[in-house]
Amino acid sequence: MRRVALRIVIFGPGRIGVAFARALARARCDVLGFVGRDPARAAAAVAAAGCGRVLAAADHVHAQAVVFAVGDDDLAGAIAAAAAAAPPRPCSLWLHTSGRHGLEVFDGLAGIRRGIVHPTTPVPAHSPGVEPLRGAPGVLVGDPRAQRLLRALCRRLGLVPFDGHGGNRALYHAACALAANGLTGLFAEAAAACAASGVVRGADAARLVEALMRGALQACGDRGSVDGLTGAVRRGDTATVAAHLCELRAHAPAAVPAYLATAHAALRLARAAGLSPMRADAVAAALDA
Ligand SMILES: NC(=O)c1ccc[n+]([C@@H]2O[C@H](COP(=O)([O-])OP(=O)(O)OC[C@H]3O[C@@H](n4cnc5c(N)ncnc54)[C@H](OP(=O)(O)O)[C@@H]3O)[C@@H](O)[C@H]2O)c1
Repeated sequence: MRRVALRIVIFGPGRIGVAFARALARARCDVLGFVGRDPARAAAAVAAAGCGRVLAAADHVHAQAVVFAVGDDDLAGAIAAAAAAAPPRPCSLWLHTSGRHGLEVFDGLAGIRRGIVHPTTPVPAHSPGVEPLRGAPGVLVGDPRAQRLLRALCRRLGLVPFDGHGGNRALYHAACALAANGLTGLFAEAAAACAASGVVRGADAARLVEALMRGALQACGDRGSVDGLTGAVRRGDTATVAAHLCELRAHAPAAVPAYLATAHAALRLARAAGLSPMRADAVAAALDA
């Protein structure tokens, strides 16, 4: 018997929309195309995804799965606009990709199955040869009737499923932002300070910072954050911490708030790892000076 491909419409021709379309098309789903606010952006997404076409909002009636991959603050408006353009196809799966919102954004829509697939990985603009979703966690939420299809979609996207029912989604999303976007901000500040030092130059500064960050993440994964911590704060080298702050204030002042916030977090870990209270208090005083 011939298997009929799952038909999918994507609202939001952005980073996630294109990544989803590419992965789903590769998994032999029938990606009908993109609905966007700007047809030119939707056409660019069609080109980047290599599948589908530019669609009108009412075209969701042709799909078994309707994906809303729009910004978190645009989600309710996009769902309302889709439902206003045409009534949902009975039993179709409507899902969004936001970490911030729950299923309540679909309240008031009758006859649909509701779901969330939140890929817990940074997905930048498409670059050839990069498959950002493959092997990443996908946090799933859905109505009981949606579970089977959600898991099938997750598999086709190449995501590893995690159960995300219940809990505080804004807090969960804040944690995701801290881990992913916070790390990117930290990378930029550290690379700028490293380049300003003149010890290494140009692209080498970014390469060194990337190696340090990868090593620190590896140590956290291998040993946990308490045992994985190294450095001046962990050792209680107060004069060195004071020198760091002095030079950052002089040559890379934008990095000072990040240095202070992360050093305070590191100090909590250092205390837990056994740094003597006297040395820890001296580091705290240097940070607060
Ligand atoms: N990128 C990531 O790393 C990542 C990871 C996990 C989850 N997510 C989630 O995925 C969702 C999309 O994120 P993204 O990074 O892909 O955002 P994005 O690149 O900014 O793309 C969002 C797209 O949605 C379009 N849009 C906004 N309102 C719309 C509407 N009413 N109808 C149709 N299209 C509309 C935007 O149009 P314009 O072009 O006009 O702005 C834009 O093209 C968010 O909920 C985000 O939290 C993102």
